[in-house]
Amino acid sequence: MVHSNLRDCKAWQDVGLPLSTTSNEACKMYDALLTQWVSWTNDPSLGGFESCTTQLQTADPDFVMGQVIINGAELLGTGKSVWLDKDLDAAMKRMVGLSKTQEITERERLHVEALDLFAKGSLPKACNIWEEIILHQPTDMLALKMCYDTYFYLGYQQQIRNTVAQVIPHWTPQIPLYGYLKGMYSFGLVETNFYDLAEKVAKEALALNPKDAWSMHTLAHVYEMNANVDNGLKVLKQMENNWKDSDMISCHIYWHWTLYHIEKGEYEAALALYDDKISRSCFKSGAMLDVVDACSMLYRLQMEGINVDNQWKKLVGVTKSHAKDHVLIYNDSHILMSLLGAKETDTANQLITSLQEVCQTPGENYQHQLGRDLGLPICQAITEFANGNYGCTVDLLNPIRYQIQNIGGSNAQRDLFNLLLIHAALKSDSRAHQKLARCLLMERDAFRPNSPMTERLTRKAIALHNVD
Ligand SMILES: [Fe+2]
Repeated sequence: MVHSNLRDCKAWQDVGLPLSTTSNEACKMYDALLTQWVSWTNDPSLGGFESCTTQLQTADPDFVMGQVIINGAELLGTGKSVWLDKDLDAAMKRMVGLSKTQEITERERLHVEALDLFAKGSLPKACNIWEEIILHQPTDMLALKMCYDTYFYLGYQQQIRNTVAQVIPHWTPQIPLYGYLKGMYSFGLVETNFYDLAEKVAKEALALNPKDAWSMHTLAHVYEMNANVDNGLKVLKQMENNWKDSDMISCHIYWHWTLYHIEKGEYEAALALYDDKISRSCFKSGAMLDVVDACSMLYRLQMEGINVDNQWKKLVGVTKSHAKDHVLIYNDSHILMSLLGAKETDTANQLITSLQEVCQTPGENYQHQLGRDLGLPICQAITEFANGNYGCTVDLLNPIRYQIQNIGGSNAQRDLFNLLLIHAALKSDSRAHQKLARCLLMERDAFRPNSPMTERLTRKAIALHNVD
C-alpha cells in the first residue's frame, strides 16, 4: 500500500513535532492512526486502524509515541481500562518503561505522563499535561485530540471549546487535519450554546471536507438543541452517504436521527432505526459509545410509554459484562438502565454494590470520587423509577440536577436525565412533584421552544392539574 501523503520522520521534524524513531514507516503509521482517529473512520485507503497498528508495531516495536497513540486510542476510544484489561495494563507499563530507557523529547515524555495519568483515572491532571504540550506545540493534534476527548468525559464544556479556539490561529489550511480542527471547534461552540456560530463553523469544515462526520454531528446537535427536528431529519438523510462510513461515530449520528423521530412521536421510525442501525452497530462493534447510545435510545422510548422489553433482553447480552466496569459514571448509569430494562435485578444490584465499593476506595480516580455524590444517587434514582417509586426518583435527582453535567457526555446525551426527572415528577403522587414537573417543562420550553415532546408532556402535566 502506498502512503504518499503520510508524514515520515523528516516531515514530522520539519513541522516541529519530531518523533523519536528512525523508521519512516512507523512515522507514517502514526500519521495514519492519528488521521483515522481524528476523522472517526476506519479508512480502507489507509488500511484501517487495526492494520495500521500492526504495521506500526512491526516497523518499530519500541517507538514510544507509537505506543502512546495505540494505547491512547484504546483507553479513550473504547471504554477499556487498565484495571479491566490485563493486556492494556501491560502495554501501558511497557510504554512507560520504554520512555524511561530511551532518549525522547520533552513533548514525548509529557505525552507518556498524561496518558499514564488518564489510565489511572486522574483525568483533570492528564488534561493539565496535555494543555502544557499544546501551549508549546499548538499543532500537536494528538495532544489536542486526547485533551478534547477527556474534557468531553469530564463535562468541561468551556474547555472543549477553548482548547481548540486557542490553537486555531496557529494552524493554516495547509496543515493536515486542519478541516477536522474546525469541526472540533464547532462542537465546543454548540455545547456552550453558540448555536449559530457552531452551525457556521461546522458548515465551513464540511465545505473543506464533506465527509467530516464530526462536523455533521455538530449540525445534528445544533438542530437537536433548537428542536429544529424537520431540518435535522432532512440534513442527516441528505448527507447520509457522506457520514455513514465513519464507523466510529455513525451509530451515534443515527442515535441523533432517532431523537428527532422520538421528538415527533414517530416511535415506529425510531424503533426501525434502532433495529437497523444502532442495535446492529452496537452488537458488531461492542464499542462503549454504541452501547450507551443503544441504552439511551431504549430508555427514552420506554419513558415515552413504548414497550421495548424484547430489545432490552437482547441488549443485555452486550451490557451485562460491563456491570462492574466503573470506568465512567455516565456509562454505569446507562448499563444499569439496560439491566433493569431486562429485569436482571441481581446484576443491577451488583452494579450498585460494586459502585459503592469503588467509591470508598481511596485514590486519584476522578470518576470514583464522583461516584458517591453523583453516581450513586443517579443509579438509585434509575432503580427507584424502575420500581415505580417515582417520588423517590425526584427526591434523588432534583437536588443534583445542576451537577449531572460533571458525569460528562453532551447536553443532548444528558438530556435523558432531565427527561427522567420530568417523567418521574409527572408520575409521582406528590402534588409538589407534579407542580415541579410543570415548572421544569416551562423551563424547557423557554430555552428550547417548539418541541413537540415538551408540548406532549405539558399536556400531561396540565391534565394532572385539572384533576384537582
Ligand atoms: Fe452527539
